[in-house]
Parts: sequence; C-alpha cells; structure tokens
Amino acid sequence: MGRSVQEPGYLRMMEPTPEQKNILGLHLPTDPRWVDLAGIALEDILTDHAWCEQKAATSCISLIHRYADKEKLVSELAPIVTEEWGHFRLVLAELTRRGLKLGRQRKDIYVNKLIEFEKKGAPEEDRFLDRLLIFALIEARSCERFKRLSEHLDDEYLRNFYRRFMESEAGHYHLFIGLAETYIAKDKVRARWKEWLHYEAGVMETQELRGDRIH
Ligand SMILES: [Fe+2]
Ligand SMILES: [Fe+2]
Repeated sequence: MGRSVQEPGYLRMMEPTPEQKNILGLHLPTDPRWVDLAGIALEDILTDHAWCEQKAATSCISLIHRYADKEKLVSELAPIVTEEWGHFRLVLAELTRRGLKLGRQRKDIYVNKLIEFEKKGAPEEDRFLDRLLIFALIEARSCERFKRLSEHLDDEYLRNFYRRFMESEAGHYHLFIGLAETYIAKDKVRARWKEWLHYEAGVMETQELRGDRIH
C-alpha cells in the first residue's frame, strides 16, 4: 500500500507525490470498473459532484458555528468554505457549458454509512475527533475518485478538470488531519483514524458499484 499518510511528521513535512495522494491511507482502492461506468453517466456524475461541493462548503460552515471557540479551526476553515463554494461554481459552469442542468441532490448513501460509525453519546472530544476524521475521509475518497477520473476519462478537457479537483481535495484531507492533531493527542488521532480507514473499506466493499455517484 506504500507509505502511510498517518506516519508522524509526514503530513507536516512533505508534500505528497501524485501517487501518494492516490494512496491517502485508504485501504481499498476504487473498483476500476467505476470510472468506466462514470464515463457513461457524466451528467449524473457532474450533478452528484456539484452537490458534494455544496455539502463540503455548508458542512465547513457548520463546523465553524459549532467550534467557534477554536481559533485555528475557524481561521483554516474559513477559506475552505470559499474554495469549496468555488468548486461548486466550477462544476455548475461545466454543467452549463454542456447544456446540462444541475438536477436534484440524491441521497448520500456513502456519507450516511460513515455517519453510522460516529461515536454517539461519547465525550465531546471523541465526537469532535470523529467529525474531523469523517471530513478527512470524504476528502481522501473524493481525491482518489477524482484521480481515477483525471486518468481514465476519454475526454481530455474533463481529465484536466478533475486533476485540479484531485489536487485541491488532497490538500483538504491533510488540513482536517492536521486540525485533529492540533486539538487532540496525535496517538489518539492515529488510532481512531486506523479504525475509520478499516470501517470505510468495509463500506466501499459492500456498497453497490454504480457510476452515477462520486462515492
Ligand atoms: Fe471541493
Ligand atoms: Fe474538499
């Protein structure tokens, strides 16, 4: 699986190579058939992607509301809100360029499955950690999927389009892990991150393979 991203110091000291960005510590790579299915359901993929970006922006705003006393979190997430909203606008513009409509948001099976693993009723620090790690995980998996699209779609314009998203979401993944390690002991962050990676692989394994969703 190559170098694990949760190794001490790695997040802070090294800019990952594109290959490391693909690995991201995820235990289960995306089924290679997914990108073929996505390539023939582009309208659905773009619609789902647009809503993913919208949710990323609004979820960051929610974190800022909830943890307004955490200065570093607020100052680091404020620009991410702008960035994610910029992503939403980019996908919207791409839909328009193709003569397509935004369409409705779909039920997010993947994210709902992740939320089931949150420690409900646990001490505040544990719930805070889980929230940050869910964000990190969604960013990591999105990044991995964007990498697939950036490498395997037939359309060169879209390959480049997704390369930009891949790079951006890899940065976000690092940011959320870094925030967790700012407020919570690194050993605890790493131990829980391993549990999340294991759980996420199970979600990916049991989830129906379909090309009309980013996750
Ligand atoms: Fe984004
Ligand atoms: Fe992101």
